[in-house]
Parts: sequence; C-alpha cells; structure tokens
Amino acid sequence: MNILVIGAGGREHTFAWKLSQSKNADKIFVAPGNAGTAEFCTNIEISVNDFQKIKDLVLAENIQMVVVGPEDPLVNGIVDFFSNDSKLKNIAIIGPDAQGAMLEGSKAYSKEFMQKYNIPTAKYGNFSIDTINEAYAFLDSLQAPYVLKADGLAAGKGVLIIDDLDEAKQSLKEMFDGKFGNASATVVIEEFMKGIEVSYFVLTDGTNYVLLPEAKDYKRIGEGETGLNTGGMGAISPVPFANAEFTKIVTKTIIEPTINGIKQEGINYKGFIFIGLMNIDGTPKVVEYNVRMGDPETEVVLPRIKSDLLDLFTATYNGSLNKTNIKIDEQTATTVMLVSGGYPENYAKGKEISGVEKVAESIVFHAGTKQEGNKVLTSGGRVIALTSFGNNKNEALKKSFESAEIINFEGKYYRRDIGFDL
Ligand code: AMP
Ligand code: GLY
Repeated sequence: MNILVIGAGGREHTFAWKLSQSKNADKIFVAPGNAGTAEFCTNIEISVNDFQKIKDLVLAENIQMVVVGPEDPLVNGIVDFFSNDSKLKNIAIIGPDAQGAMLEGSKAYSKEFMQKYNIPTAKYGNFSIDTINEAYAFLDSLQAPYVLKADGLAAGKGVLIIDDLDEAKQSLKEMFDGKFGNASATVVIEEFMKGIEVSYFVLTDGTNYVLLPEAKDYKRIGEGETGLNTGGMGAISPVPFANAEFTKIVTKTIIEPTINGIKQEGINYKGFIFIGLMNIDGTPKVVEYNVRMGDPETEVVLPRIKSDLLDLFTATYNGSLNKTNIKIDEQTATTVMLVSGGYPENYAKGKEISGVEKVAESIVFHAGTKQEGNKVLTSGGRVIALTSFGNNKNEALKKSFESAEIINFEGKYYRRDIGFDL
C-alpha cells in the first residue's frame, strides 16, 4: 500500500519510520517532510493545507492511506474534503472530521463537550467583549492564579496563567482587543488546577479504541520548567505515576465518556485523541484535547508500540479496532530535543548539522531540518529529537544526552533535565 504522511516535523518522521517497518507498506510519501524523511521516503513540497494538490498527489501516486500529522488541516476540514469527494471517499484517512477537530480548534467547544458528557475538567466560563463585565465578575470569584485561554488555535501560545487579578483583567481585555487575532474573540476563563501533568493517547475508529502508551512532555525552554513555552523539549514514556490504578480511573472517567460523546455527537472520528490531563492527588481532570498526536510525545509513544502501525490504521479506518490487539514494549523511551539557539523567540536557520551518522545509541528523528546538496541544514526551532530505550528513565536518558553531544550545529541547545520531576 502506498501511504502519504502530511506534515514536516519529528512527529511525521516518526510516523514514516514506524510505517516503513510494516509488511504492507510500499511507497511512503511525506508532504512536505524534512531531511530525515527524505532518506527513506519521497518528500513532496506541498503545503499541509493545500487540499487540491494533496488530492492530485493521492490520485497520481495511487495512495491508499493518508495520515494527517498536524491539527491545522484537520480543523480546516481535510477529512470532510476526502469524504465529500467521489474519487477520495474510499481512501483511508486518519484524523477526525472538522466537527471532531473542534475539540482542539475551539476551547469553548471542548469545554462544552466535557460538561455535556460529565468529563472532569476545571470549572470555567466562556466570554466575549459583550460579556466582559460577567468575565470580570467570574475572575473575582476565582482564586489566583488565573487561567485565560484564547478559544481558537494560537500556535500553542494562547494560554495565559497570571498571578495578579488586575493583571488578569488587563490581559483579558487585550485578548478581546485582538492579542491573538480572531482566536481570542472568545476567551475561556478557568479555575487553576494544581497537580502534575501527563498525556494519554488513544487511537479510535469512532466506536472502539486502543489505548497507546502515555507520556510526559517538557514544554518550557528552561531547565526546571522555567521560561517561555515551546512546542516541547523532550518526553518520557511510560510515566511512573500513571500506574494501572490511575489509568483505570482515566479510562472510566475520561476516555470512555469521550468516545461515547464522539459517538453521540455523530462525529466521524478515525484517528488519535491526545488527552492532556492533570493528576490532582490521584484524580485526573482534563486540561485539553488535541485531535492528533503530540510532538515530541510521538517520538516516545510510537517506538514503544510493537504492533504493526499500518495494520492499526487499517483497522481504525475499517471500524474494527475491537478486533485488534496492541503490543507495547515495557522499556522506557525518552526523547531529548535539540533546538536552535534563541528558540522559541528569534533563531537562525540554515546552520549545517554534523555528527548524525555517528549516533549509535539513539534513534535520530528529524524535526526542523532540510537537505541541501549533500548537507543537512537546520530549518526550524526544534531541529532533531533523540529517542533512546532503557530499563528505566535514567538508562534511556543517558543515551539521549550522550547522543545530544555527538550531534552539532551552531547555537545548539537542549535541556539536560528531562524527567527531573519523575
Ligand atoms: P492548553 O493549551 O490548554 O494545554 O494549556 C497549556 C498549558 O497550560 C497546559 O499544558 C498546562 O500546563 C497549563 N494549563 C492550562 N489550563 C490549566 C489549568 N486550568 N490549570 C493549570 N494549568 C493549566
Ligand atoms: N508537545 C505538545 C503538543 O504536541 O501539543
């Protein structure tokens, strides 16, 4: 079967790497891909939101399976585009329809969904400029710190956590005034949840689901979880406190009601659900849904799956996930992200990367890289993720950190404390 992976990051390199191990995989295309996927796939320079060009590629190359990496094309309705097109409607596409993608694309929608299906989450209210006085009163009723979330997609930057009440009111006003463009025309105000975060991942066919390994991501640029938010600086799976007992509670109170809600709403959902949650003294509450896999969580979750990923995707599309078994590697996987100096603010691109071929103890997943002649250059803030296995997190991390020293490019930075809190 020919396969198309949509996206360009470490997540998409990992998808392509795992799919390439499948007995049924033939040619793998990645649009647009990176220097890592170029080594064993065919990269096609198409924007993830150019549905017409994606259609032309799928038909020209006899592609039977499309795996959508990022949220943007899902929120923009790529799955609906396929199901409404007579030539594409039988192509297996992995991801939810546009309504399902609103679980990530609209925080107001996802909070209403959680409330409707009794899924534990922080107390909240949705407000716009017309209800600003109610919003101020709601803030007055909460205790610090205050959580303000732009309703729409804001490239991971739309959540503000503010200690001071007056400052929170000021920021709220700025959000209504367009701080995040149209994405903050509606703002969700939430109660702050104090606990430790963990992410659960499921693959669902809309009725059945399989539970994938959980993971913990390290989002801040600085060690000790300080400084600006990034896309993610490293990840670990499994997460020790997410034991069988905790997972049972997550399944009963969160995963099953979520799948049930998707079914009740008539959402066409054949894809991943990424549930970010807070463990509050043993009680899980949802922080957010994403309708795709995480990056860099994918770089630790997929390597731990022993089963054939293409078979799992086929079962997802056919609605037969209840007949599949998933085998998970017991080992710990860690990933450490090498980033460009200055990221997540301004950083240079086009720096030559060396040493990749010398890495022996880790799997090298490319994120922001591109091939130019026989050189591999940096082309993004997050450059390379180094995934390693071990019997415990320290064994695995040791390998990832050693590999991080072998690869070089000007301005290279990485966090040396991934997993410090576990
Ligand atoms: P989100 O985009 O909703 O995942 O929010 C980004 C980050 O903000 C999360 O990963 C949490 O670390 C934090 N966060 C969001 N909502 C809350 C909340 N209600 N209480 C505490 N932390 C939160
Ligand atoms: N690493 C966080 C995300 O992919 O949303």
